[in-house]
Amino acid sequence: MASKQIGSIRKEYGIGELSKENVNSDPIVQFESWFKEAYEREGEEANATTLSTIGLDGHPEGRIVLLKFYSEDGFAFYTNYNSMKGQELENHAYASLTFHWKTLERQVRIRGTVEKTDPIISDDYFDSRPRESRIGAWTSPQSQEIADRSVLEENELFYKNKFQGQECIPRPPHWGGFIINPQKIEFWQGRASRLHDRIVYQLEGSDWKIKRLAP
Ligand SMILES: Cc1cc2nc3c(=O)[nH]c(=O)nc-3n(C[C@H](O)[C@H](O)[C@H](O)COP(=O)(O)O)c2cc1C
Repeated sequence: MASKQIGSIRKEYGIGELSKENVNSDPIVQFESWFKEAYEREGEEANATTLSTIGLDGHPEGRIVLLKFYSEDGFAFYTNYNSMKGQELENHAYASLTFHWKTLERQVRIRGTVEKTDPIISDDYFDSRPRESRIGAWTSPQSQEIADRSVLEENELFYKNKFQGQECIPRPPHWGGFIINPQKIEFWQGRASRLHDRIVYQLEGSDWKIKRLAP
């Protein structure tokens, strides 16, 4: 097949700027201010982020997940613990998140150690989900090969019947949160002529050291 030339797709950046002087000294506060703006501008899925893990074969793996809470303790998302990412994080408890907020010409990269969230936190979030999503968590053997879609439909019917008339659906033991405890957080703001601003916070002991990196 002839190669498809897409090199001419090009965007100039330049709606914002970032410096060591104008960021907050606390990267979580800085993230909060950027996240709020992203949510205002981009709405739902401003919390969509690429989760990168180390594959069981040592090769990288990336996929999108939804950030569900963040605090000084870290950045959390929910998933199936038996999924590929679940197994990878069990095996190698390091991961990164990459946000891209296109309308703001911004990227945030977060890297750190990972652990499962407290089961009480997972229970609380699970209980807040719509009924269909709670049943979906039981239904899908995430990341496993299945013969066809009927496998999911049959599983769904099975769990709908199982929990019929039952208001409270228990959280599956294989489903819950992971929290990334950040060690490095980078904020990127697009600038003209590809001379973008990159401000990185690196944890040294209990202090965040702030540096500017070349784009
Ligand atoms: C917008 C978007 C949001 C997603 N959110 C999640 C999520 O929060 N948790 C999750 O397990 N998978 C989520 N997924 C699906 C994952 O990208 C992925 O397909 C799935 O988790 C299986 O990944 P794995 O086989 O690497 O474990 C989302 C996908 C998209 C496109």
